[in-house]
Amino acid sequence: MDTISYVLAMEELSKVDASASVMMSVNNSLVCWGLEKNGTEEQKQKYLKPLAAGEVLGAFCLSEPEAGSDATSQRTTAEDKGDHYLLNGTKNWITNGSSASVYLVMAQTDATKKHKGINCLIVERGMPGFVVGKKEDKMGIRGSDTHSLMFTDVKVPKANRIGDEGFGFTFAMGTLNGGRIGIASQALGIAAGAYELAVKYSKERKAFGKHLAEHQAIQFKLAEMATKIDAARLMIWKAAFLKDEKKDFVKAAAMAKLFASQIAQEVTTEAVQIHGGYGYVKEYHVERLMRDAKITQIYEGTTEIQKMVISRELLRQ
Ligand code: CAA
Repeated sequence: MDTISYVLAMEELSKVDASASVMMSVNNSLVCWGLEKNGTEEQKQKYLKPLAAGEVLGAFCLSEPEAGSDATSQRTTAEDKGDHYLLNGTKNWITNGSSASVYLVMAQTDATKKHKGINCLIVERGMPGFVVGKKEDKMGIRGSDTHSLMFTDVKVPKANRIGDEGFGFTFAMGTLNGGRIGIASQALGIAAGAYELAVKYSKERKAFGKHLAEHQAIQFKLAEMATKIDAARLMIWKAAFLKDEKKDFVKAAAMAKLFASQIAQEVTTEAVQIHGGYGYVKEYHVERLMRDAKITQIYEGTTEIQKMVISRELLRQ
């Protein structure tokens, strides 16, 4: 299906469960789309087919203990050994870390070439020397497993490299450009889910002799929340449309993620506010949405990274 269909599904899923939607986003946006666009026919048959059929999950492994936003500083190495690479290093914050079967791992082969010496290798769960490390105890999206991964002398066949030698960083950046549309949709869904709960609650709960929804203070909050949600949705649809049309969507995707993740903070916070004390306890779910919203300003590029991407695109025009 197309990107528009994908963002609609992401929004709906995220209204209820952002943990489920991040599994889908990483699997579909980063792993499947990356393989579909750049993989060889053999890689597609072997890895993309079961991923797309939902038989296995994928993970995207770029971040490291000392290379998060600063992604060119990869310390994981993929030493060229002729017909295979020897992979060594640690990856951090990996979504689907313990549940994936296929891992796209960025690693440095030739440090003298800096980011042009990085390769992306397809690593299978169970390859000797590959160990899944500790599970992170996160503030939000607690239903999604985030792990560190350790690689010690893992033999990865050359046939598992995506693209030409040194294509790994370009691959990662290009894939993340598309992935940001997915995370923007996740942020939108979290906001829309919180808004729907706030509307429902304000029609049920009475204070000062009338429903909350009859108080202008609450009406104004709902109006602002709905306006922000609609604006984010239109920005996401624009980015998705440009991607489907095979036009340049980099700036539109980063803008959509920047804006949607900001309004997700604002809208979920207001939703908790409308619920009052009930919003601060787990019974009404809005506190979970507020915690889940925060990660959308951090993964697949922080707010600051989106601003870097947008300004670079603006200034090179
Ligand atoms: N699209 C395509 N190419 C890009 C790009 C983009 N958005 N941004 C940079 N590049 C290219 C540049 O053109 C350059 O290539 P050339 O040398 O061939 O021209 C190369 O990348 C290096 O660029 P810079 O010299 O500008 O590098 P930099 O270090 O100054 O900045 C960066 C690069 C944009 C900050 C980049 O490191 C970045 O995007 N960092 C954020 C990484 C990120 O999003 N991590 C998320 C992890 S994945 C995740 O979260 C998944 C999950 O589990 C949910």
